[in-house]
Amino acid sequence: MLSSPFIIAFSLLLSLPILFFLAPRILPPRHLSPPIPDSDEIDDAALFRRAISLSHHPNQPSRTFHLSTKKNPSFKIAFLFLTNTDIQFASLWDRFFHNQPTNLYNIYVHADPTVNITRPDSGVFHNRFIPSKKTYRASPTLISATRRLLATAILDDPANAYFAVLSQHCIPLHSFRYVYRSLFVSKTFDKSEPEPESEPGIRTKYRSFIEIISKTPRMWKRYVARGRYAMMPEVPFEKFRVGSQFFTLTRKHALLIIADRKLWKKFKLPCYREDECYPEEHYFPTLLSMADPDGCTKYTLTRVNWTGTVNGHPYTYRSSEVSPELIGRLRESENSESYLFARKFSPDCLKPLMRIAKSMS
Ligand SMILES: *[C@@H]1O[C@H](CO)[C@@H](O)[C@H](O)[C@H]1NC(C)=O
Ligand SMILES: *[C@@H]1O[C@H](CO)[C@@H](O)[C@H](O)[C@H]1NC(C)=O
Repeated sequence: MLSSPFIIAFSLLLSLPILFFLAPRILPPRHLSPPIPDSDEIDDAALFRRAISLSHHPNQPSRTFHLSTKKNPSFKIAFLFLTNTDIQFASLWDRFFHNQPTNLYNIYVHADPTVNITRPDSGVFHNRFIPSKKTYRASPTLISATRRLLATAILDDPANAYFAVLSQHCIPLHSFRYVYRSLFVSKTFDKSEPEPESEPGIRTKYRSFIEIISKTPRMWKRYVARGRYAMMPEVPFEKFRVGSQFFTLTRKHALLIIADRKLWKKFKLPCYREDECYPEEHYFPTLLSMADPDGCTKYTLTRVNWTGTVNGHPYTYRSSEVSPELIGRLRESENSESYLFARKFSPDCLKPLMRIAKSMS
């Protein structure tokens, strides 16, 4: 006869792997960041509704976006900065916008209100901070912040036609003039789809520059980060996409994103594990690839170096690496005539970047 301590020990041993296997299904998800407060969701919904109702206004540019910028010089780029620190390259951006006609751009900053951030009292970022909420890394709060920026820019100025999302670690790789011409005027900038040669000098098609990738390692782990069936039925695995959260969208797509409720309901769910949870890299590419794949270039204009990545952070350039040659290498793109922006740079890169900005065009 077996002694009962032996049986107890034996069954305990047996149950260990079973527990290990079942625990993630039985235990409530470990909340990596607190869920989004209902009050934030209510505020956002009201903001999005206002922006959408404005878009039904007959003077909206979204429908008449095919007009030549020569005839209609008031199309603007909305530069949307998402930050949880000081804007470390503020003076570089001041230089980028210096002497540019203000009827060609607007700037909006979403800054985490729980961090002590210095708001510049002069320069292009002065008074450009929008009502913001707390953000966490690896959490859907980053999606909310981006949608808040899009909605605020839509409401603020009907002339905002392209929306470029940037962070405090981003730098411009070209002059403002080059960026503006690339987005609105050039017929050859987007190499992936040459413009038909019908009307010389007039762009006819505007697409969003957003990375949309369907196959990468760990895609399945990222898909099931909220639970095996959590994304169903709205987002089957075959429709799940990944891409950089730094993109440049048309007004039509900015509106589509703030009007979305169906996918947001899924992507706002908390993850079980932090290392596979990057909702901000999935929500936008998945939504746009489901809603309007032909309206997207499927590549981004913001260069990033993922070689030797640590903890989901890309390579960060140090001041000793900054040179005109580096800028030249970062511009090189297979999809467009050039990348327009790049990240990430450590704060001490500001001095050498300012120095070479004078000599580069
Ligand atoms: C915020 O930062 C400023 C400048 O660094 C400092 O003077 C101020 O005391 C800080 N405020 C808080 C609440 O930490
Ligand atoms: C990307 O980062 C690696 C280091 O991880 C570096 O060796 C390489 O030169 C970088 N590439 C570019 C284009 O700067």
